[in-house]
Amino acid sequence: MLDPPPDTPQTVGSQLPERAGSPAVERDQLVAFYDDSYAREGEQALLYSRWRALGAQGKADHVIELCSRAGIMPSSTLEVGCGDGALLCELRRRNFGGGVHGVEITQAAVKIASERAEIDSVELYDGQHLKDADGAYDLGIVSHVLEHVPDPATLLAEVARACRAVVVEVPLEDNLSARRGGKREHAEQVGHLQRLSRESARAMVSQAGLRVAGELEDALPLKVHRFFADTPARNAAAVGRWGVRRGLRLLAPPLARRLFTVHYACLCLPRS
Ligand SMILES: C[S@@+](CC[C@H](N)C(=O)[O-])C[C@H]1O[C@@H](n2cnc3c(N)ncnc32)[C@H](O)[C@@H]1O
Repeated sequence: MLDPPPDTPQTVGSQLPERAGSPAVERDQLVAFYDDSYAREGEQALLYSRWRALGAQGKADHVIELCSRAGIMPSSTLEVGCGDGALLCELRRRNFGGGVHGVEITQAAVKIASERAEIDSVELYDGQHLKDADGAYDLGIVSHVLEHVPDPATLLAEVARACRAVVVEVPLEDNLSARRGGKREHAEQVGHLQRLSRESARAMVSQAGLRVAGELEDALPLKVHRFFADTPARNAAAVGRWGVRRGLRLLAPPLARRLFTVHYACLCLPRS
């Protein structure tokens, strides 16, 4: 699955299907949609893989920073919705997370991830129920998944059942830029069912019976903004956009959140 950063040209070919009545049919349609996103070949597959690897660097920074602040050094990690396994590989490369495991709803992603030697296991699951015992893992990760699911709090509660601490990362898309028609279409095309604000992300954590023990925001580094810039003009625009967003995020975080999409990551622990 390829989630472009805010304001990049659309590069995903498949469209999210019209949602059809029964939850089982809807789930099948969503799985087929994500499967298609991972089943690219040749140049396109390589480009997507590089894009995911680049995104994984920032995501790993966030996981490690949030865990370090809380003194968590996991000896086992489960990523729910691990996609092609880019984040788990990045964590393993940095020697963080202990045994790293993933589950996914799409066969195409499981196939890519399970061929990566850095990952200890990857399994297909039904998108709702983990087979693991309560507290089986030190750390759970749900990275850029909850905005894709119809009932995010229930999925998060299930992850928290199996994992003693959970890092969640989502894009905050409840902002003026993301509300524009083209941007809304774009978010739908990459499968986003939720448009979150920081408040609604926190509320979702609370609905899952958890508390936010640490949080951070990221307006994304320059190399992410420039990744799809294939002309000098687009490159200049990407550099300008990065500079403005970085400055605003540092100087006036609430205004930045109101104007454009930032990525929000939080460490969730049981409330009691
Ligand atoms: C944008 S990708 C994120 C992949 C990876 N976590 C990362 O951060 O690079 C979204 C992923 O969510 C997965 N997904 C969608 N619904 C899911 C569910 N109910 N449970 C687990 N994964 C799900 C999709 O198959 C897709 O791989």
